[in-house]
Amino acid sequence: MRNANLLTDNPVLYEARFPDEVRLAGRWAEDCLRRYGAGPRVLDIGCGTGRDAAYLHGAGRTVVGADLSEAMLEHARAHHPGPEYIRADLRGFDLAERSFDAVVCLDSALLYCHTNDELDGFLTSCRNSLAPGGLLVAEMRNGAFFLGRTELLDTTSVNELSWQGITYRSTTTLRVDRAAQLLRRTRVWTADDGSPPVEQRSAWRLVFPQELRHLLAVHGFEVLALYDGPGPRTEPPWREGDLPGATADADRLHLVARLTRAH
Ligand SMILES: C[S@@+](CC[C@H](N)C(=O)[O-])C[C@H]1O[C@@H](n2cnc3c(N)ncnc32)[C@H](O)[C@@H]1O
Repeated sequence: MRNANLLTDNPVLYEARFPDEVRLAGRWAEDCLRRYGAGPRVLDIGCGTGRDAAYLHGAGRTVVGADLSEAMLEHARAHHPGPEYIRADLRGFDLAERSFDAVVCLDSALLYCHTNDELDGFLTSCRNSLAPGGLLVAEMRNGAFFLGRTELLDTTSVNELSWQGITYRSTTTLRVDRAAQLLRRTRVWTADDGSPPVEQRSAWRLVFPQELRHLLAVHGFEVLALYDGPGPRTEPPWREGDLPGATADADRLHLVARLTRAH
């Protein structure tokens, strides 16, 4: 069985598996940027296919999209032009020669910081890249959701999708690694073209709201909003005009923080 990340190796497949035709994530991010008065220069870190970065560009912002995956960056340049796309690791990036009014980090990309050092690396890098008063806007899983709830852990979910005449089937299981505070996912892909199965292992840090507040304060950020919905991946999803909620209990977490102390 080949071990690979089928979706980030195939950005077209990623967009087919996680469609966002109305650019809900991009719209939600733009709404936050406007609501809290961000300037025009935006870094979308963990930009993936580039669709959110391109939406923000279309809304009149000057956008840099950054990702670790060359395949994603190539796709973004070809399919979602407008922003500048560069390779950077969100766990520690040095874009010191540039200054941004906001860093946007969507779809749980922040949770690829698995260790405390990596979370510190991310926040230090954001701080160094932001102009005074700059915003951090992030959307991710909520670690607190898993306290006392096992509904996402007890089931194996099976999904099917067709792409270029081939049907792909994914079987996904999730488990919590408590000591590491990681949500570990194993996903096995099979295809009806006779190719061997592909196993993909991923993990996301389980970050809790109070832990996030503490980390942000240590790094000089003031939390302006931290809530579970509505957002681009909640049910029901966020709609234009919806205000930030007041709870942080459900499975997504939405964060807006302002850099108040630079160094
Ligand atoms: C869930 S996807 C983001 C998707 C994007 N919002 C979209 O809709 O296309 C997460 C992205 O984070 C990227 N990524 C993973 N680890 C990273 C790291 N350490 N630094 C930068 N990007 C990373 C992956 O390559 C992937 O493109």
